[in-house]
Amino acid sequence: MLDDPCAAAVPFYDLFHEDGHVPAIRELLPPLLAGVRRGVIEIGAGTGLITEVIARATPAEIHAVEPSPGMRSVLVNRLARDPELQRRVTVLPCGGLEVKVDEPAGAVVMISVLQSFTADERPRLWRVLAGQLERDGRLLFNWRDRRPPAPETEPGVMGTYQVGRHTYEVAGQVLDVTGESVTSRFLYRVRHGETLLSEDEVVSTAHWPPSTAVAAELKEAGFVQDDAPDGMQVWRAA
Ligand SMILES: C[S@@+](CC[C@H](N)C(=O)[O-])C[C@H]1O[C@@H](n2cnc3c(N)ncnc32)[C@H](O)[C@@H]1O
Repeated sequence: MLDDPCAAAVPFYDLFHEDGHVPAIRELLPPLLAGVRRGVIEIGAGTGLITEVIARATPAEIHAVEPSPGMRSVLVNRLARDPELQRRVTVLPCGGLEVKVDEPAGAVVMISVLQSFTADERPRLWRVLAGQLERDGRLLFNWRDRRPPAPETEPGVMGTYQVGRHTYEVAGQVLDVTGESVTSRFLYRVRHGETLLSEDEVVSTAHWPPSTAVAAELKEAGFVQDDAPDGMQVWRAA
């Protein structure tokens, strides 16, 4: 796991995201998957929090794409706790640009992952995903336009969670904003009272295009937009 950019975040992932986007997605995603039977590709499955939501919402086979070995290890261990999930979910150790499944899928789900793709990668991503979907198959993802943040001088605490006698803390600081790309520094800390037991730093760049730009890219790739609740986007492969 030495080259895994997610390695430092993995122990904090479920704590931090149960406190973030995941509860809203549990409400928003299932109705958008209604009627899907033919296989769901999940891009960037992480530790499997959303994989479980998809599995409860559909009877479909799931192809969970996850490039990070650390995230994948939590995901596979989550599947191993439930024989039905273990039978129905295949974990693909690759990125979204490399995904290839045996039969066309009824839906692609991509939750809190789009920002991982650069402006150059996105048109390729849309073409790859269009190629994996059946005609009229759905592409579902969460997206909101956000105001570009300003660089910050100090990291701010984004969440703290008690685990036994220890406190897990996630702090973040915006270092640079260039166009749609935001480079941030994250600190993952474990404390016992006032004593800092461990601190891991990750610097990463996320990409936040306006939704008008995303829409233009998707139309160019042959997708047609459908209605979706606030915060979600639904596109159909034409
Ligand atoms: C913020 S997490 C979201 C995980 C999960 N979808 C959720 O909502 O809980 C982003 C995930 O995207 C994955 N990821 C990053 N780059 C990716 C790529 N090029 N293709 C597929 N997944 C990617 C990361 O490894 C990470 O697991």
